[in-house]
Amino acid sequence: MRNFEYCNRTKIIFGRGTEDLAGAETAKYAGKDGTFRILLHHSGGSAVKTGLLDRVKKSLKEAGVGWVELSGVQPNPRLSKVYEGIELVRKEKLGFILAVGGGSVIDSAKAIALGALYDGDVWDFYDRKKEAAEALPVATVLTIPAAGSESSISSVITNEKGSWKRGVNAECSRPVFSILNPELTYTLPPYQTACGVADMLAHIMERYFTKEPHVELTDELCEGAMRAIIRNARKIFSGGERDYDARAEIMWAGSLAHNNLLSTGRVGDWASHGIEHELSALFDIAHGAGLSIIFPAWIKYNIGEDTSRFARFAAKVWGVDGAFYDLEQAAMEGVFRLKNFFRSIGLPVSFAGAKLDVSKIPEMSKRAVTFGPLGNYRKLDEKDVQAIFRIASEE
Ligand code: NZQ
Ligand code: ZN
Repeated sequence: MRNFEYCNRTKIIFGRGTEDLAGAETAKYAGKDGTFRILLHHSGGSAVKTGLLDRVKKSLKEAGVGWVELSGVQPNPRLSKVYEGIELVRKEKLGFILAVGGGSVIDSAKAIALGALYDGDVWDFYDRKKEAAEALPVATVLTIPAAGSESSISSVITNEKGSWKRGVNAECSRPVFSILNPELTYTLPPYQTACGVADMLAHIMERYFTKEPHVELTDELCEGAMRAIIRNARKIFSGGERDYDARAEIMWAGSLAHNNLLSTGRVGDWASHGIEHELSALFDIAHGAGLSIIFPAWIKYNIGEDTSRFARFAAKVWGVDGAFYDLEQAAMEGVFRLKNFFRSIGLPVSFAGAKLDVSKIPEMSKRAVTFGPLGNYRKLDEKDVQAIFRIASEE
């Protein structure tokens, strides 16, 4: 096991009705002079329709917190909206951002929070020209369990100029608090629930596939978390859209999948995320759907690296009984079951399944390695990435 430091400052407020605490919790960050205005950031979509935004506003008002609103965040959040937010925060002298929505709204809020305190172009952080060291505090009311941004250090933004989708990891971006009410997820379209499930599974798989020895505790935590996600996703997809307990398990799993607890003492891979970002950037596909296409292909490409690891994944997560298979067959059976699970919840597992243009594979492979080879489990260069895209193009 490697040396590590683990610290996660995000206060999680979990359960029914917890959005009503948004105001009181935000007010704790007010300055001594008592006047406090924040940026209230959202998409203008489901949170408005369901009445969630009004409930949050009521709670802010009751706590004496004023706000300026910025809506219009799109999935795969855009840099132009971030610039708009930075300008607004500066003009209105706002010192705190409350994001109400999913990973896209939260990531947009995090980018605004970084940019507001930086004299240069906020894209410098995403372009790796500058290290992010300070940001305004961000808090969240989460509406979709998926990206894990509610307690992660990351934000991922799409720059429309050139269609670049890039992420920044910075401790200062970690939200100060996040409100998670599983009931808020009842209104999710099944496709979005499925995308979220794929993303959280991917966040665990990225960490699980490591060559680090003696990480038994986190190995088993990863396997247990993946089993719980699969089991509860199946409940939701067999008539349990309003099953509070299943929604609660999935919501909490989404945070634990990406709050770095499961990374302790080990090094994750992250190539599949890097490869997927090219799909989202070019085709504007949902991140989770991109991952359901890429991750099985990444596993297939790497099975020969350490077959026993993939066979263990098949046995512990997918219940593949080793007595009936040799190691490689068992590992392949794991990929087969992973793909079938994704299909069963309505996700694509190939380029064709998502109607993506395979002629873009060479271009995407080149762009994926802009900053050098991807991945830690095995370093992947342009030709490896291209091979993974080719595997992903087969159903
Ligand atoms: O805008 P609305 O109308 O709310 O629609 C959203 C959106 O269309 C809808 N939705 C969300 N909550 C809902 C709802 N619809 C009905 N009822 C609700 N309660 O769901 C759609 C997707 O929302 P989005 O915020 O885009 O989803 P997600 O949370 O999956 O975020 C995806 C973004 O996060 C990035 C992804 O790359 C992508 O850009 N990621 C961020 C990470 C991080 N910051 O740590 C890590 C991840 O690996 C990921 O890269
Ligand atoms: Zn992800």
